[in-house]
Amino acid sequence: MKILTGQKTFKCLPPLNLATCTKEDIKEYFNNSYDLNESLFLALKDESVFYVYPDKLRLPLIFYYAHTAVVFINKLILAGLLRKRINLEYETMFETGVNELAWDDTENYRLGGRLQWPCLADVVKYRIEARELILKVIEDTELHLPITMDSPWWAVMMGIEHERVHVETSSVLIRQLPVDMVSKPDGWKYGPLNAGEPVVKNKMLAQNETTVVEIGKPSNHPSYGWDIDYGHDSWSVPPFEANQFPVTNREFLEFVKDGGYSQQALWTHEGWTWRESAETKHPVFWVCRAGFDLSDCNGGGIGCGSSSSDESGSRNKDSNSSSNTCINVYISY
Ligand SMILES: [Fe+2]
Repeated sequence: MKILTGQKTFKCLPPLNLATCTKEDIKEYFNNSYDLNESLFLALKDESVFYVYPDKLRLPLIFYYAHTAVVFINKLILAGLLRKRINLEYETMFETGVNELAWDDTENYRLGGRLQWPCLADVVKYRIEARELILKVIEDTELHLPITMDSPWWAVMMGIEHERVHVETSSVLIRQLPVDMVSKPDGWKYGPLNAGEPVVKNKMLAQNETTVVEIGKPSNHPSYGWDIDYGHDSWSVPPFEANQFPVTNREFLEFVKDGGYSQQALWTHEGWTWRESAETKHPVFWVCRAGFDLSDCNGGGIGCGSSSSDESGSRNKDSNSSSNTCINVYISY
């Protein structure tokens, strides 16, 4: 199964300085983003997994694999840096995804999965052509620094940063797949345990004084930003306490075992609507170990205790009725 159109990499280059970068820097940064995103898909066991819905509110991974290249080409056309399309059908089909916060915005799900996705080899071919075209645009377009929002180069930077955003999106979706559909790619290294020891007690730290915080990015900052990054505001934050570390799996497990997923009062309205839609009683990327007592998780349905797609609604690409998806990676803490 061919997935890579460049080099396998799990190394991420730092963001570019848009006041000093050269064309060579931009090419290297672009190739790194493109490579990084494709390398993530090496975790999928075979081509059939590209067509599985890891989450009924999102699209199958073949969409995300194609989407970043398509958006890049569409942005270059809008910016006037590219005149000719590669494939109008793809540039329509893979342009817009779903809004994961709108519970009924799952058009393909409602259609019963009738959207016909192309085969992986054809999408790989598209990504190869897109990569070549983008590199040619970078090579042929005159570069004036700094790159600002008014520059056509902003579209190039947007295409690159959009690819990097999707590294995160796709990695979450891949983690939601049944564990027998994924494998650890060669060269993948787990992140270091920075705390040194597992966090058993996540103590509270107090901020005893009112503090003024400034937020917002100045418009002349020499790095790419999305529109919500800009502007300026200042806030007075009263004294508060917060945990030393983000909530740990150990802590969250207590919440789950205590029935946190069945008590509406503990959720925001939006969160509860999602929980009901997802029909889950624990994080959707957790698998209950055999013998582990979360006895009624996903009650009334398939039930937990399996890490296998045999018990996941995600298995069959033609059947999107994943009312009980008990999928995910093991709880670790
Ligand atoms: Fe996107």
